[in-house]
Amino acid sequence: MSTLDSILKETRLFPPSDEFRHRAAVSGMDAYNGLCEQADDHYLSFWGDIARELITWKKPFSRVLDDSNAPFFKWFDDGVLNVSYNCLDRHLAQNANKIAIIFEADDGTVTRVTYAELHRRVCQFANGLKSLGIRKGERVVVYMPMSIEAVVAMQACARIGAIHSVVFGGFSAKSVQERIVDAGAVAIITANEGMRGGKPVALKSVVDEALGLGGCDSIRHTVVYQRTNNGANQWQEGRDIWWHKLTEGQAESCEPEWMGAEDPLFILYTSGSTGKPKGIQHSSAGYLLGAMNSFRWVFDIKPNDVFWCTADVGWITGHSYVCYGPLGMGATQIIFEGVPTYPDAHRFWQMIERHKVSIFYTAPTAIRSLIKLGADFPQQHDLSSLRLLGTVGEPINPEAWIWYHEVVGQSRCPIVDTWWQTETGSAMIAPLPGAVATKPGSCTLPLPGIIADIVDESGAPVEPGKGGMLVIKKPFPSLVRTIWGDPERFKKAYFPEEFNGQYYLAGDSANRDEHGYFWIMGRIDDVLNVSGHRLGTMEIESALVANPLVAEAAVVGKPHEIKGEAVVAFVVLKGARPVGEEARKMAEQLKTWVAHEIGKIAQPDDIRFGDNLPKTRSGKIMRRLLRAIARGEEITQDTSTLENPAILQQLQEPAA
Ligand code: WT7
Repeated sequence: MSTLDSILKETRLFPPSDEFRHRAAVSGMDAYNGLCEQADDHYLSFWGDIARELITWKKPFSRVLDDSNAPFFKWFDDGVLNVSYNCLDRHLAQNANKIAIIFEADDGTVTRVTYAELHRRVCQFANGLKSLGIRKGERVVVYMPMSIEAVVAMQACARIGAIHSVVFGGFSAKSVQERIVDAGAVAIITANEGMRGGKPVALKSVVDEALGLGGCDSIRHTVVYQRTNNGANQWQEGRDIWWHKLTEGQAESCEPEWMGAEDPLFILYTSGSTGKPKGIQHSSAGYLLGAMNSFRWVFDIKPNDVFWCTADVGWITGHSYVCYGPLGMGATQIIFEGVPTYPDAHRFWQMIERHKVSIFYTAPTAIRSLIKLGADFPQQHDLSSLRLLGTVGEPINPEAWIWYHEVVGQSRCPIVDTWWQTETGSAMIAPLPGAVATKPGSCTLPLPGIIADIVDESGAPVEPGKGGMLVIKKPFPSLVRTIWGDPERFKKAYFPEEFNGQYYLAGDSANRDEHGYFWIMGRIDDVLNVSGHRLGTMEIESALVANPLVAEAAVVGKPHEIKGEAVVAFVVLKGARPVGEEARKMAEQLKTWVAHEIGKIAQPDDIRFGDNLPKTRSGKIMRRLLRAIARGEEITQDTSTLENPAILQQLQEPAA
């Protein structure tokens, strides 16, 4: 039985306990259905009311949605606000001394900052950025380790109206450079080094390398947070400035820049089906609304909760559920610098125990790797503070779900499986934990106000049990506004003609069961999901062919026990096809190359060499065939159209 079949036959149902339901803000299915009906009947006032309830406006909006230039939707258009004001200042009256962030460093050092302290730090840093001449609307790249400072950097940009573009600290110099160039960034905020698993992670030197690659003339400054004592030996006076020098003597308050609701808050690059990552542009008000509202509903947040989202701020999850959602709602959260297995596999559980974490949100890949280490690690810790668990990033296999539920949640905590994307800005399909019964492997039902459906090629809804394409049929506040600098690509990629430009096409295939529950099956485009991270196959192919030895490359995914999916590359060299030891060495060399071109996460697990790639007579690479080879499956497809069937055998030989 394939995973797909086994998932659809999953019948176990986990309703919230009476206790959880009684205490929940959205309590019971009647409450959930009531919200959905409100949204159905009065879509605009539904969102308008939430926008007035959750956001503090400098100037109120007079219109909820402007769809006159669809799909370039505008929400709360004439409203004026500042996102950082909403995340910090307005909490000061009641909650100045509430802990905003509990930071645990790689070496276990704990730092706590209150809302008042975080506000002070953000203001000082914002004033520092202003002193560098950074102005509203300019782009600032943030290339930081997980830290309080990463959040301060993002919030400070929001405060002065600069548009941040966070680049995950694991990305390469080339990736940093491409993003700087595409965004036309004027400054970079980085650290000399990060610390993960007891080892330093180079950051400043990667930035130096990126700037050396050319095309980065827009950069006027790099601000460097000092985390270690190394890694800043290529100092350029005038361009480079230490974080602590920049903030020294800066005023502790900073009048926020008042922004239009639609002014961009940030750009975050993500992989698509072409070689070039897309700059996903999010708005100020609509995005903040999505992050806050989903945070309060999906995590049922209470004033005393200690929330921990393990995602890096380099991904959308870290934007919405580290930087903006929790702070917008005035919550207390954990930020962790390190890795789950350092100094040993007790780390996550120890941290939950030490900080009395009540809500824990992580990725299925992390859960699977922790399962592998054994249940005795979590079992040695007091996890009784936990009341709610969450997952994000990829489908969770029912087996991992059950382990998470029983071993971590001690069968007490609901699990919210949250489906969403960089483009949607906030959770879209996920259970409201005090209402919706969960099923292992299903993200369950759309949030109220999210009109999700599964359709066929013509845009017609498919019957339950029949797979199709996941779409969202109405615009919603936190939806991506455009692709930075490429509105045409935005339209084509997300609002295709086939659906009359009406539906947002998510790029996932999905299925719905007889209860209306959604089951995400995977991407419909050439995008892989490796450890919950999105990677374009074309991006990796471009990286491979950029190597002077490589003539041609094709990349596909194969199932992987821990990562979900692993990268497999089929490569044709310009020279002779290597075999044996030579092939092994060449494979290693190309793996290192990809890590250097894109980042370690894109590194192929497996590289195969052929004299050619399997192509149809018209020259199209037969990816289906490559996928079968990558999985080690028997080839049942018709290969009669193949130019050179003998290469199939070559490609079946692993290099190592
Ligand atoms: C893609 C989006 C959303 C934050 C992290 C990833 C997959 C995401 C789930 C889930 C099944 C999921 C989809 C989606 N995905 N969450 N709960 N169940 N699949 O953001 O990098 O933009 O990737 O991740 O395929 O399209 P992203």
